[in-house]
Amino acid sequence: MRKLVHYIGTTLDGFIAGPDGGDPTGPNGFWPIAEDYVQHLVTEYPETLPVQARQALSVTAEGTRFDTVLEGRRSYEIGLAAGIADAYPHLRHLVFSRTLTESPNPAVELVADDPVATVRRLKHQDGKDIWLLGGAQLAGALYSEIDTLILKVGPLTIGNGIPLFSREAAFDPRTWTLADHTVLKSGAVFLTYTRVSD
Ligand SMILES: NC(=O)c1ccc[n+]([C@@H]2O[C@H](COP(=O)([O-])OP(=O)(O)OC[C@H]3O[C@@H](n4cnc5c(N)ncnc54)[C@H](OP(=O)(O)O)[C@@H]3O)[C@@H](O)[C@H]2O)c1
Repeated sequence: MRKLVHYIGTTLDGFIAGPDGGDPTGPNGFWPIAEDYVQHLVTEYPETLPVQARQALSVTAEGTRFDTVLEGRRSYEIGLAAGIADAYPHLRHLVFSRTLTESPNPAVELVADDPVATVRRLKHQDGKDIWLLGGAQLAGALYSEIDTLILKVGPLTIGNGIPLFSREAAFDPRTWTLADHTVLKSGAVFLTYTRVSD
């Protein structure tokens, strides 16, 4: 059965974005992006680069990990506001929303159903793993379904912001096994953890 992988950038103090949302790694963002970090994404996770970055970096690789990406409406709308209605045309792209009524792009599937039920259905389909992109609210709703965490830990603290899982997520301690790690010279660390089965 394929897995749900929460692959996401986090600060050292556990935040994925500043308090007001927005794209922390975008043109007006505060998150330093080093050359070796970009190179690591290109080499190891090419399918997770949005289409504009793939074009700018001449990346055409399909990647080996994911064929599906799940996104919350607020994260999706950041790209939409920048004129990108489908940042991942090379993946099956599902956006969870109970308020959007029409998809801005025919390739982007709007899902108003329960994310847990949707993910359980997806896991039984053939294919590569499923990338849970975020943000915190969707990740909180899917907390119980995450099989693997890949944390891209940036060498920064921000004091306050949007945490990895929304504060509405249930208190539900889980333990994880470190399966892989990569330390980059710039100070970013990639940590892969698999969930210890319940
Ligand atoms: N650091 C990173 O790698 C990274 C990655 C992704 C996102 N982010 C950041 O995360 C922030 C956005 O995160 P967020 O937590 O505010 O929002 P989010 O999770 O991206 O989106 C929340 C929206 O998703 C929909 N949703 C959530 N739970 C749902 C459920 N159970 N059923 C159906 N729909 C559901 C709802 O849309 P409706 O209101 O339309 O119903 C909800 O308002 C942004 O600042 C973004 O930059 C960072």
